[in-house]
Amino acid sequence: MAYLNDRKKITIGTILKRKAKGTKITCLTAYDYFIAGLLDRAGVDILLVGDSASNVIHGHASTLPISMEVMLAHAAAVARGSEIALVVADMPFLSFQPSIETAVLNAGRFLKEAGAEAVKIEGGIEMAATVKRVVECGIPVMGHIGLTPQSIHRFGGPKIQGREERSQTYLKESALALQEAGCFSIVLELIPTDVATEITGSLDTTATIGIGAGPGCDGQVLVINDILGLREEGFKPKFLRQYADLPPIISEAAGRFIRDVREGKYPSEEESY
Ligand code: KIV
Repeated sequence: MAYLNDRKKITIGTILKRKAKGTKITCLTAYDYFIAGLLDRAGVDILLVGDSASNVIHGHASTLPISMEVMLAHAAAVARGSEIALVVADMPFLSFQPSIETAVLNAGRFLKEAGAEAVKIEGGIEMAATVKRVVECGIPVMGHIGLTPQSIHRFGGPKIQGREERSQTYLKESALALQEAGCFSIVLELIPTDVATEITGSLDTTATIGIGAGPGCDGQVLVINDILGLREEGFKPKFLRQYADLPPIISEAAGRFIRDVREGKYPSEEESY
């Protein structure tokens, strides 16, 4: 596609310019080289190597089990597949919470060993000092507030955040503290539209990327498996728009291969040496 030839590498600066101009930012998760390349060429701005890999790639019930080593491997594959999009790697559970030093060292590994260009850190105002130090070390940080999946047991499930005044105040103060700490963007997850819109309007130098946070955010993110239908049946949160239904296509292709082999139709002479 010719227009893609004009695309320039997406940087933190591009994201902030998009916010300033009111141009919506697009973000999808990716976990491997091939899909990263497809999404990159489709024109997505940010490829997030989400710790949702724990669920959608490795089959865990939560994001808690995935390790630094596994996330580094996913991030490296995505970075190799991406040319234009900004590659952001999600810091997994316990890779940043224990201490600021742990956070800096692990965040640095994503840039140094995997070729990511930024990291994502879950948590609000309580994480601001950590974010500040990571940013001071030259590592761009995307924040993440609202329903932060690494705290799923504290929340008691995937519950909408920011319904009560106390929770709204925490989210608003957190967004400002994360901006002050230097986050170039913040994911707002499962937050009522009015609260997410107000937070977006309160930030000048930090773009908001919503998931289940309504249309008032500076951009939107979805999990690639979710939009392709590659999730367990019945997984249909209200915010999710599924753009393709790959399971029947994959099952049909596998079924045809199985049939051809069993019936001696594959490989043919032309497919043999
Ligand atoms: O891990 C992930 O995929 C995420 C997005 C849902 C924002 O954190």
